[in-house]
Amino acid sequence: MIYISPSILAADFSRLGEEVRRVEEAGANFLHLDVMDGAFVPNITFGAPVIAAIRRGTSLIFDVHLMIKDPQRYLEDFIKAGADIITIHYESCEDPLSVIREIRKHEVKVGVSISPKTPAQVLLPLLDEVDMVLVMTVEPGFGGQKFMPEMLDKVRLLRKEIIRRKLNVDIEVDGGISEDNAALVSESGANVFVSGSAIFKSKRPRLVISRMRAEAEKHPFRP
Ligand code: DX5
Ligand code: ZN
Repeated sequence: MIYISPSILAADFSRLGEEVRRVEEAGANFLHLDVMDGAFVPNITFGAPVIAAIRRGTSLIFDVHLMIKDPQRYLEDFIKAGADIITIHYESCEDPLSVIREIRKHEVKVGVSISPKTPAQVLLPLLDEVDMVLVMTVEPGFGGQKFMPEMLDKVRLLRKEIIRRKLNVDIEVDGGISEDNAALVSESGANVFVSGSAIFKSKRPRLVISRMRAEAEKHPFRP
């Protein structure tokens, strides 16, 4: 199943409620929330109070991407704010497995992400412990960057391994995703598409989302 997850980083923050409704009505499955702390990444965005406020105006699945150091310190806050999926970065803490297991104790799904310089192999021991892996297709920190196609080798490797072990793990891609690369990305084995600029900066988000989904569905992964 293909899921489209618009990233609100590209939304007009002065009208956040309306912006979220716009993508919900346009056919989004998830809402991607990029939390940045100015320490793990060189940018600061928003935290749990903003997520809690958005939560009151939508029933979209909240896909919370934590780009913060030592995420274990704030898990409770994001769970209370209404996260449905919490994704931590492999590089952001000493012991990702223990943070993953901590998240697992709650009624939320758990994901683990790797930045471009991190090899996919580090995720192999974690695949049985997560609901989703997130392969970054740009350096985390900013929206509107150029998609890095070489990251798709990681997606292929992970999809093959997920199939081999008969696991039910989603593969999310994030950074520079648009209708132009959706086919290639889907063919490589990803099924959750984060997209900020391509969706929010468009006057016709419904068309962008439906084209992205159609491209992905037309080009499934073939082992
Ligand atoms: C980057 C964020 C992304 C970003 C994607 O660190 O994780 O979610 O908002 O935005 P686009 O689609 O504009 O690259
Ligand atoms: Zn993100």
